[in-house]
Formats: sequence, structure tokens, C-alpha cells
Amino acid sequence: QIARLINDDIPLGEWPEEFFAIKENIRLADRLLGNPVRPGEALERTLALDRETMFGEIETSQLRGRGGAGFNTAWKWRFCYEGPETAAVCPPGQPAAGIERYVVCNADEGEPGTFKDRVLLQSCADQVFEGMTVCAYLVGAKQGFLYLRGEYLYLHDQLEAVLAARRRHGLLGKSILGREGFDFDIEIRLGAGAYICGEESALIESLEGNRGVPRNRPPYPVTHGYLGKPTVVNNVETFFAAAAIAVHGGEWFAEVGTEKSKGTKLLSICGDCARPGIYEYPFGVTIRQVLEDCGAADVLGVQIGGPSGTFLSDKECDRKLAYEDLATGGSFIVFDRTRDVIGIARNFTHFFAHESCGFCTPCRVGTALLKNLLDKIAEGHGATGDLAELSRLGRFVRSASHCGLGQTAANPILSTLERYPEIYQARLKTIDFEPGFDLDGALA
Ligand code: NAI
Ligand code: SF4
Repeated sequence: QIARLINDDIPLGEWPEEFFAIKENIRLADRLLGNPVRPGEALERTLALDRETMFGEIETSQLRGRGGAGFNTAWKWRFCYEGPETAAVCPPGQPAAGIERYVVCNADEGEPGTFKDRVLLQSCADQVFEGMTVCAYLVGAKQGFLYLRGEYLYLHDQLEAVLAARRRHGLLGKSILGREGFDFDIEIRLGAGAYICGEESALIESLEGNRGVPRNRPPYPVTHGYLGKPTVVNNVETFFAAAAIAVHGGEWFAEVGTEKSKGTKLLSICGDCARPGIYEYPFGVTIRQVLEDCGAADVLGVQIGGPSGTFLSDKECDRKLAYEDLATGGSFIVFDRTRDVIGIARNFTHFFAHESCGFCTPCRVGTALLKNLLDKIAEGHGATGDLAELSRLGRFVRSASHCGLGQTAANPILSTLERYPEIYQARLKTIDFEPGFDLDGALA
């Protein structure tokens, strides 16, 4: 319904009230959402300190990428600043003059069940742009891009207005906050609805005007990114958190969380629960706690990290959200016992088959074969050998595909097959023979 409203260009003001329920259900934690950064606040503190001190704050925070993979943000920024080309001509810590650098905010939030970046952009865009600008100052970039998911077109004008206000207030453009030589601006580029363009190297191809096909990595974008230049690509939430760290300090951020996962994580919680919405939790929270808070009852399982993540059964509720246990980009989908496990896996498998970019054979053909086989089983036409074939094919697609999409496309099948083999078994085709029918004799 929302897609139809967007496609028909219905203004937000005319949308039915029920679609705004999620926005109203933002749960304010006292860390990031509860401590918004005033426009310019993070930049003032950054400029008041020297570059190394601010790099030190980001290092101390141990902030890890919030898109899902959790790469250390300070390392990423430092690699971009000091990359191999730089190291060859300059002493450590000194960037080479004349090397262009770029900062890209990945707002191609395409993982089904993830909508926290959309809410951040809708409600706190200034802080996201502030984080990008702090990053630009530290790595020495003059140009930034917000790569906005095509389906978030309705946010475009609002975001442009925020950028225009920042230019008026000297927070973007030439000599930011009066600092000579600190020039940086941000351009919004729209995706066109392809999930694969959320993969950072496909995103960069798309930014360059090419078809969104993932590149070989390494080299990583920090050294060979947009136009082959050093480029930081981070998720919306990462920049949002970086701005808060610049203001409140790395130690403040790292006070909560676990040993390897510092700070808090925003979750987009949806599905069979009474209180869907955006929640902020310190890393280390248990699945049980989250389910309790969002009002989930009679839980069959939870999909963590979207279809490319893991499907957990109700017996795994003591597991923790943290990079040490369950990493997530922010998607948390609850399923109750009225749901059909095979139907869930089938829906996600169709999604991957549809979104495969087609570049490599294991994923292009493999996801189509997985889809066909699962359709057959779901409709009750599967034979015993089909489950073994489903598992074999899934593991092959996982190991032979070129990028993360193919490498995770079989996760919904493999994780449900592992946890609910009896449900799959029960769906296989069975034939009711007449009492006394000699099957072995007939087969012989
Ligand atoms: P990755 O682990 O390959 O890379 C993560 C980041 O670290 C990238 O920016 C990469 O450039 C950088 N990096 C890794 N090793 C590096 C090195 N040696 N030197 C410099 N930089 C390095 O993970 P990937 O494939 O980029 O992302 C996969 C994640 O994306 C998954 O966790 C998945 O859950 C998540 N995802 C999120 C979606 C969303 O809508 N938020 C959609 C689909 C997937
Ligand atoms: Fe494209 Fe899939 Fe291959 Fe990735 S794994 S390059 S999405 S075909």
C-alpha cells in the first residue's frame, strides 16, 4: 500500500494515519536518540581539537559500521586518510596533497524489515550530514554523496532543504565555520530500486553512472572507491553515531555495550508484535528482552539481520545482539506460530532470486533453482531427495557466489531447514496406498 502511495505521488499529508504509527513509536534511549546533536555542534568541537585528537575519540569509541558487517570505523577513516598511495609519498599520518577523497553515506536501505535509516533521515538528517562532514574533515574529502534508496524518493526534497539550510549556516560549502581550506559539500543521488546497489562497490558503480554490479574486493573503497579514489562508505547510522561521538567523546559512547561491540544499536522491529518501531539498545541485549519490550507473544521465531541474516527459533531467545554473537544491520522481524516457516523462507528466496544482479552464474542460476525447488516443496510436491538437494544447492550458492547477496541468499532456507527439519519433512509428497499394498514389490 505504501509503495502504491509513493508511486501515485500522494503527498505525505494525505497518507492514512496508520502509516505513521511507526514514527510515533520511536523509543528514546538515553544514548543516541536521547542526545541529539545541535547543527554545527560536532563540527565546532572537531575544529576546536586537532585532527589526531578527534581521530583518537573515534578510535576510543570503538564504533563499528552499523550497516551490518561491523568494520571498525576509525580504521576505515584512517585507511582512507593514509591509504597506500598516501603512504608511498608521505610520512605516516600525513595525507598526500592533491589526492581527492570522497565520503559516501549508504542510504540504500534495502534489507526487508529494515527502516531505521529512513526514520533517521526523516527525523535527524542534520546529525547524519554533520557526521559526514566530521568524517570529511578528518579524511580530507571535499565531496560527499548521500546515496538514497529509490523508494525513499519522498524524502528527497526534505533532505535537500536540510542541506540548503546547512549551506546557509556555513556548515557546508567553502571554508566551513570559517576554517580556511575546509571545503565540503554533499550531493544527493537516487538509486533506482535495485537491492544490489546497497552493496558498497555496486553503489559506487551506480554513483559513477554504471550498472550496479559489485566489484572485486580487495581493493576496498577506502583506497579504490568513487572514480578509483579513496572513499569512505558508511551507513546512515554510523555517521549519526559519529556526530554524537564527536560531541560527547569516545569514552561516553563506549560506556555501554559488550567487549567487542561498544555503544548502542538501532533496531527496526516489525512483524507479529504489539509495538513495532525503532528501538535503541545497548549491544548485548538478549532476544528475549527485545521480544518482551515489543510485545511479542507466542513466538515461532525471529529473523535477525533481514533475509541475509539468521532465522532464530523460540529456543534461542537467550542469544545476544552483538558482533560476538548475532550481528545485525538493524532488522528484527517477529513471526508468531500462525506463520508458515516454509512460506517465510519461500518469500525471502523469491526476493533474492528477483534481486540477483545476474553477473555471476552461481547466484543468477542458483537462486532461481532454489526458488523453483522451494516452490515445489512448499506446494507439497517435494520428494525425499529434494531436501538434501536444497541443502546442497544452498551451500553451493553460498560458497561460490561473487558478492554478499549470493553468499547470503540461501540463509533463509539453510537456517530454517536446520531448525525445523520436521516441518520440511512433513510437507513432502506422501501417497496413501490401499491397506496391504506391497510397495516394495511394486518398486522391484
Ligand atoms: P564486509 O565485511 O566485506 O565489509 C564491511 C566494510 O568494511 C566495507 O565498507 C568494506 O569496504 C570494509 N572493509 C572490510 N575489510 C577491509 C579491509 N581489509 N580494508 C579496508 N576496508 C575494509 O561486508 P559487506 O559485504 O560490505 O557488507 C555485508 C553486510 O551488509 C552484512 O552484514 C549484511 O547484513 C549487511 N546488509 C545490510 C543491508 C541494509 O539494508 N542495511 C542490506 C544488505 C546487507
Ligand atoms: Fe550479482 Fe548475485 Fe553474483 Fe552478487 S552474487 S554479483 S548479486 S549475481
